[in-house]
Amino acid sequence: MSQYVVLIADALSPHAAEVLTRDGSVEVRHVDGTDRPTLLAALAGADAVLVRSATRIDAEALAAAPRLKVVARAGVGLDNVDVTAATAAGVLVANAPASNVVSAAEHAVALLLALARHVPQAHAALRDGRWARSSFTGVELAGKTLGVLGLGRIGSLVARRLAAFDMEVIAYDPYADEEHAHALGVRLTGLDELLARARFLTVHLPLTEGTAGLIGSDALRRVRPDLRIVNAARGGIVDEQELYAALKEGRIAGAALDVYAQEPCTDSPLFELDNVIATPHLGASTPEAQERAGTQAAESVLLALTGMPVPEA
Ligand code: NAD
Ligand code: MLT
Repeated sequence: MSQYVVLIADALSPHAAEVLTRDGSVEVRHVDGTDRPTLLAALAGADAVLVRSATRIDAEALAAAPRLKVVARAGVGLDNVDVTAATAAGVLVANAPASNVVSAAEHAVALLLALARHVPQAHAALRDGRWARSSFTGVELAGKTLGVLGLGRIGSLVARRLAAFDMEVIAYDPYADEEHAHALGVRLTGLDELLARARFLTVHLPLTEGTAGLIGSDALRRVRPDLRIVNAARGGIVDEQELYAALKEGRIAGAALDVYAQEPCTDSPLFELDNVIATPHLGASTPEAQERAGTQAAESVLLALTGMPVPEA
């Protein structure tokens, strides 16, 4: 008989279950974590739960889980886990911090290129039978200034990739190391200079009290009218209403979004604007990233269940 019950509450790579069941000590139960009554009932008998983004592990969920020892997230952000409540309940929280950063960085670069050259709009027009070459004149990246907000794991990967496009890369990150930036070919600046100079701005911050709305009314009045913004970090760092106003009033040239203040998000006014391109939180959606995320989260669960140290979230 298995010693531990581990719930997989979101769609994860099959590698997660393979890792968990390899020594026979774990029984894996799959539940739909968005079906709240089912989740709460399943948590009653669970020693661990693995989630991606859809399942909320909040104080109510933790209270329903008297045996729970660990919550693991197969991804970077811990936005859907109440870490404070978990800590108070003596439940360890783990994530897979480096699992999907390459995929997320590549998606940000894809969005930036698509934004510069109107790729989705031109594709849609051609599918509609319109050969509208003159409507879709783009801009080159070479020689333009890229502002990177947050020079952490993903911001650094994006900076390095876009420096290879001959962009001048500047970054705002008060905690970043000067030597690390220098090695990437990035110059660290203040937020004011970054906002004033950037032709492209890409956001790679966590969503915190200090970053929520950072790109809001004030910031969007200090930028160039030819600025294009990419947010593939977290919704809410760029204020969606203020972004809409800035785009509508021609105070910036375009935006590409992968993340939204409320997700899922299917009917934002931003989606009606011709200079907005949008994807449904696809940054980590590659088999490579999902395999790493599922495997790392499952390994952390096994370590936690057997009382071994777990790599820090
Ligand atoms: P990270 O922790 O490695 O880097 C974040 C950086 O932001 C750090 O260097 C930190 O110093 C900096 N920072 C923090 N507060 C700041 C502030 N107020 N001003 C300026 N800089 C500040 O994180 P990461 O792994 O690079 O992830 C970045 C973001 O991308 C996170 O929000 C994460 O959840 C998100 N993400 C999204 C996807 C997706 O699918 N779209 C995938 C993975 C990660
Ligand atoms: C993350 O935080 O890892 C991402 O937003 C990716 C995801 O969960 O899909």
